[in-house]
Amino acid sequence: VRIYIPRDAAALALGADRVAKALATEAQSRTLDIAIVRNGSRGMHWLEPLVEVETAGGRIAYGPVKAADVAGLLDAGLLEGRDHPLCLGPTKEIPFLKNQTRLTFARCGVIDPVSLDDYKAHDGLKGLETAIAMAPADVVKQVTDSGLRGRGGAGFPTGIKWKTVLDAPGPQKYIVCNADEGDSGTFADRMIMEGDPFVLIEGMAIAGLATGATKGYVYTRSEYPHAIAVMNEAVLAARAAGVLGPSVLGSGKAFDMEIRVGAGAYVCGEETALLNSLEGKRGVVRAKPPLPALQGFLGRPTVVNNVISLASVPVIMDKGAAYYRDFGMGRSRGTIPLQIAGNVKHGGLYETAFGLTLGEIVDGIGGGTASGRPVRAVQVGGPLGAYFPRALFDTPFDYEAFAAKDGLIGHAGITVFDDTVDMLKQARFAMEFCAVESCGKCTPCRIGSTRGVETADKIAQGIEPEKNRELLTDLCNTMKFGSLCALGGFTPYPVLSAMTHFPEDFSPAPMVEAAE
Ligand code: NAI
Ligand code: SF4
Repeated sequence: VRIYIPRDAAALALGADRVAKALATEAQSRTLDIAIVRNGSRGMHWLEPLVEVETAGGRIAYGPVKAADVAGLLDAGLLEGRDHPLCLGPTKEIPFLKNQTRLTFARCGVIDPVSLDDYKAHDGLKGLETAIAMAPADVVKQVTDSGLRGRGGAGFPTGIKWKTVLDAPGPQKYIVCNADEGDSGTFADRMIMEGDPFVLIEGMAIAGLATGATKGYVYTRSEYPHAIAVMNEAVLAARAAGVLGPSVLGSGKAFDMEIRVGAGAYVCGEETALLNSLEGKRGVVRAKPPLPALQGFLGRPTVVNNVISLASVPVIMDKGAAYYRDFGMGRSRGTIPLQIAGNVKHGGLYETAFGLTLGEIVDGIGGGTASGRPVRAVQVGGPLGAYFPRALFDTPFDYEAFAAKDGLIGHAGITVFDDTVDMLKQARFAMEFCAVESCGKCTPCRIGSTRGVETADKIAQGIEPEKNRELLTDLCNTMKFGSLCALGGFTPYPVLSAMTHFPEDFSPAPMVEAAE
């Protein structure tokens, strides 16, 4: 009997290793014939560790399972998928999973992440095989026609970026995967690397063949040790099987890659700081132009794409541009892995076509707050994203619709807050975060963020609140329009949205002296 217990970092943090150990020990003492597969996560964090048993009728899920539950589960007939208070029924029928459109995450949680055979048995490498049979320009056209836009946050059309690199002259080109995923509350990149690393490898190989790049790097952070281990193991297996190397799947075209680990600076997720770090230099932002597509890693034409952008390419090559494009709305095509976190009942990863409203996501999919109190604010797009009040819950999840409400969808992180949140403190936190993470290259960000913290403190203390609110707004505008990169340029989003939608928190009651 095959039993699946995730090796994903979120499941490990909740005791998945202890559950696996308890099950192995118990099975040995009862002489049960089981095979434990360490899969990726299905993305339902409140149910982790989620244990699945393969039965004739499909996989049956149990969760959240603790090591102490294992003996009782076996007594109740776990191996036959029998009922138990922790039994959730057939995995694919759990509403959170059933209602998703899993294109990029189709295999995540399903397969053994480091088994290339398992990957192939679930449609793996089909996209690469299709790409090999096509001319590079046609591969680029297919990606362009799919409507795929950069999932790292900026939403730049992936195919157009690839075309710039394809058309750029040069003896050596590179594919760099941005796996730095610095946004708090986001975990899609990590989940793919831990749960389906071959899809990223396949996506990078396709990008290499399409643009003429023969070498790729995944730049990730030291805080992701499990992802690094899985990726390294998968790269070795891909190389051994000829998926990577001097002749990718016998195509005669070379592509190889390696995993590089940064020290974990938020700004190293900015593509030019990332390239500096990858070159062994300090992670400081470079001025653009020149674009990395023309002068990137070591000054050569370089595709810098987020993990999810690259991992979405295999399905596009396999099923076609029209298939992918059919999902979504407006100029936001395909699917997006929402990462629902914070004070929320059902947190986790939910892949769906663009277009659900924020209210459907937070109240419907997320099930409201974990505390049971009313939702007051939702921050969309990571720590540099805007706070949305309930009044804007009808905003559809779409790049342009969010921009029209002075927000951004970014890397699709959604952090929920209940009515105990203090939005002035959140605004101060944004400025503080920027001050800590600033690379120091430009003045609006380096100095502005520190002045922002001080100004927020003055408002909190009731010192000339009106004047200081104006000053904070002015500071935000200077940072927004005068910063060199998105760190300083986007910090105003959380600050200004907090001031606009929650003005009452920026007018604290003046401090009253004690009567006596
Ligand atoms: P950007 O708009 O400057 O560039 C987007 C991408 O398009 C870059 O790769 C750029 O080189 C490329 N590009 C632009 N014009 C091009 C052209 N004509 N030809 C070829 N390529 C071209 O945005 P940036 O600064 O790279 O990213 C900002 C975004 O990063 C924000 O929207 C934010 O949401 C996101 N972000 C994501 C984080 C994460 O953890 N994933 C963390 C922090 C920010
Ligand atoms: Fe560096 Fe901040 Fe300027 Fe970006 S905005 S270049 S992080 S100082």
